[in-house]
Amino acid sequence: MTQYVAAIDQGTTSTRCMIFNHSGRVVSSDQVEHEQIFPKAGWVEHNAEEIWENARRVAAGALAKADLTTADIVAVGITNQRETAVVWDKSTGKPVYNAIVWQDTRTDKICDRLGDLGGGQERYRGKTGLPLATYFSGPKVAWILENVEGAREKAEAGELLFGNMDTWVLWNMTGGVDGGVHVTDPTNASRTLLMDLDTLSWDAEIAKEMGIPLSMLPEIRSSSEEYGKVRERGALAGVPIAGILGDQQAATFGQACLSPGEAKNTYGTGNFVLLNTGTEKVLSENGLLTTVCYKIGDNAPVYALEGSIAVTGSLVQWLRDNLGLISTAAEVEEFAKTVEDNGGAYIVPAFSGLFAPYWRSDARGALVGLTRYVNKGHIARAVLEATAFQSREVIEAMNADSGVPLTSLKVDGGMVVNETLMQFQADILGVPVIRPVVNETTALGAAYAAGLATGFWASEDDIRENWAQDKQWEPSMDDKTRDREYRNWKKAVTKTFDWTE
Ligand code: G3P
Repeated sequence: MTQYVAAIDQGTTSTRCMIFNHSGRVVSSDQVEHEQIFPKAGWVEHNAEEIWENARRVAAGALAKADLTTADIVAVGITNQRETAVVWDKSTGKPVYNAIVWQDTRTDKICDRLGDLGGGQERYRGKTGLPLATYFSGPKVAWILENVEGAREKAEAGELLFGNMDTWVLWNMTGGVDGGVHVTDPTNASRTLLMDLDTLSWDAEIAKEMGIPLSMLPEIRSSSEEYGKVRERGALAGVPIAGILGDQQAATFGQACLSPGEAKNTYGTGNFVLLNTGTEKVLSENGLLTTVCYKIGDNAPVYALEGSIAVTGSLVQWLRDNLGLISTAAEVEEFAKTVEDNGGAYIVPAFSGLFAPYWRSDARGALVGLTRYVNKGHIARAVLEATAFQSREVIEAMNADSGVPLTSLKVDGGMVVNETLMQFQADILGVPVIRPVVNETTALGAAYAAGLATGFWASEDDIRENWAQDKQWEPSMDDKTRDREYRNWKKAVTKTFDWTE
């Protein structure tokens, strides 16, 4: 009997279930979007219960679409939007507040306060590999405990649990109030500002400074082992859940970036470039993050340098949903193709401040270089180019940190269907851009983690063998144009600073 592995991909805008065969090819997929809640400027929330309901729906949906049953699935992996924080009551299973999303900037004052204890933004870099920034989960949990009535007392009494979306989905899948497993993996834990990167355990001192009781925090296990079985009566009942990877680390794994020096760029809501640095933890001096890339069972953890960009694909959504300038995301390429270049316009989408390499929570978006000449096509092009310019900035930082310039870039994610963007990316970087056959590397990576733990795949060599190239774009822009465009972009970035009190 042919068997398969399933992955639940709980992303920023949607939740998906994908089913893979032994060759790492997609046999079925189901997806449901969830509401984006924007209560105030800079705030972004999700309804965690809606997300859990969607996870159940897509699991059933993906099985049904391929005419498969639970008996055909040998393991399930979970991958997720990272940093998004949910706190819930362990006896009722109800969140005490909406999940606070990674893009949310409400914790800027909490971050300032912590930085003022000494060391500023670098206060926790040595232990956690991260700058003190609104992006990460720890300050979000601190905000909930400080602002939701009764939350602190309950947390101190051991009645509340914290999780990123991996933990929330896993706890519910394994029974919720009826014996749910409260676990995470080191890739997710390394995004909280609470985990020591060397010991892969929670740092009591940092948790104390943030006022977070250790009893709320999930147990940190590896990224590939059996955590429990699905307790549902419906889809996937009884199937072992055997892999957890944060979505960007999952994409790195799914792209077979398994040796030091291999890197990928995922084009999703935001963009995330990860460079595998092997079992060596490299602390960045150029505005990147140090993060756990994966930890397979008892093996030593593998680390990565990461360039996180908050807004890329979500800029296209903003153009569609907030401005109504396009009616579908695909239209952005159609308009961009009506012009030769950006007509002098640059858009810097600092909607959540600027992440790597700047880490400026005071930045806000800017559209500059406008003249009467600029039309809708130029704006569409500037939107696409913003993704490529931001990617170049983090790749330059990566080259500086590692001392070894990247010679080609593996890409994946929703926006890589956009050929205009891919060509511009190769042009502005000056290196080839390579797209794999299976572009769904995030879900695939989580499936690999689960399938390795259960023996469905024998070793990482299977992952390397399954990877295949679809298309490669070669740089064709002359150096003078490339340098001018990048210089203009850098000038545009400086216009986004100092917009908040
Ligand atoms: O760190 C945030 C990241 O995990 C979100 O990924 O794919 O939803 O843009 P994505």
